[in-house]
Amino acid sequence: MTQNLMEKIVSLCKRRGFIFPSSEIYGGLGGIWDYGPLGIELKNNIKKEWWKTMIQERDDVVGLDSSILMNSKVWQASGHATHFTDPMVDCKRCKKRFKADEIDGQKCSECGGELTEARPFNMMFKTYIGPVEDSAAQTYLRPETAQGIFVNFKNVLDSIHKKLPFGIAQIGKAFRNEVTPGNFIFRCREFEQMELEYFIKPEEDEKWFNYWTEQRYRWFLNLGIKEKNLKIVKIAKKDLAHYSKATSELHYRWPFISKNEGFGELEGIANRTDYDLKNHQEFSKQDLLYFDEENKRRYFPYIIEPSLGVDRAFLAFLIDAYNEEEERIVLKIHPKLAPYKVAVFPLLANKPQLIRKAYEVYQLLKPYFMTAWDDRGNIGKRYKSQDEIGTPWCITIDFETLENNTVTLRARDTMKQERISIEEIINKIQ
Ligand code: GAP
Repeated sequence: MTQNLMEKIVSLCKRRGFIFPSSEIYGGLGGIWDYGPLGIELKNNIKKEWWKTMIQERDDVVGLDSSILMNSKVWQASGHATHFTDPMVDCKRCKKRFKADEIDGQKCSECGGELTEARPFNMMFKTYIGPVEDSAAQTYLRPETAQGIFVNFKNVLDSIHKKLPFGIAQIGKAFRNEVTPGNFIFRCREFEQMELEYFIKPEEDEKWFNYWTEQRYRWFLNLGIKEKNLKIVKIAKKDLAHYSKATSELHYRWPFISKNEGFGELEGIANRTDYDLKNHQEFSKQDLLYFDEENKRRYFPYIIEPSLGVDRAFLAFLIDAYNEEEERIVLKIHPKLAPYKVAVFPLLANKPQLIRKAYEVYQLLKPYFMTAWDDRGNIGKRYKSQDEIGTPWCITIDFETLENNTVTLRARDTMKQERISIEEIINKIQ
């Protein structure tokens, strides 16, 4: 049943233009996906909501857009060149490669051949800058956006003069050569991250760690994720990333995970301590200390980092919103996230006066909302079609509209219809 649900969601995404396999006409590319006309709207809305809560509505966080390619020394300093690895084993006979922790037994599950000892496999994508492909020109596609923030810490501080605590946030692409990408957009090789690096006084780390864990949990609930499908999980010391003193994860109940009642990682909140700034100072020989004017001390701030994958959030919102009712499939997604906010229909497609009036209403709404137009088939089919992509409101223009300027407004979740005047529509939907 649950596997079935994922199949239905993947199929809906393809059919309605949310998500397509990358380079599909050439057979696709493992773990890489393209967002279609509706997918980009939903994705942009998720990013917009994150930016609004993390930056716009606060006065202690500023934004940044740093580059994907960076000096390769960044990845030496950050520890990724040595630590960002998965242990792998190879089959000596058929050469197939497996994640060591997914292997039980000594023989290859493909051909029965003997396996090598586990060896670290770095997940960063290598690339070369300039015309010569030698080791001096080699760097990596960033595996996290965070490092772009750390290396700009001083630039931001010197340009906007913030005092602790303050944060720098950014949204951008990250790349990981995942050995086993899968479960649709849950684990990709190219994906987007929304990361906040929140700089604090070291002695306040626990307070801010708890604060951000709670904030991030609330953010999902406020955008409609069901409480029963979300929980906060404290990560055991032995499982922490190389830079982390403590990590909490928000776990969502995924239909494709069989253990832990389906709960698995959605977002991570890490206490990165002064690990990154300290290492960047050591490797770059630049002064990255913070001067605290209150007590005239110079020190490295600690960093609390909430880090969320856009694609993974997209999948959680989609799964959570997906409903099958007797007569329809409906995405009960939060209106702020819905690709279209409203759809406009002329009751009959062969009546020019209805088309004309409906088109006027459509043009009236377009500057305010992403607005869909549909004049195909009958009204029932059009409602179904909008329900399936989560459009919260549908407006029908009929003969009565021509007489008294009122329309039928139909709500997605309740399917209730009411008659309102054209002047009221914008306020009502807002
Ligand atoms: N800067 C910290 C960091 O990158 P992470 O736990 O490796 O930490 C943070 O990643 C978040 O990025 C994850 O919680 C997940 O939402 C997302 N993410 C990580 N790897 C991903 C992948 N291969 N595909 C999609 N999203 C991924």
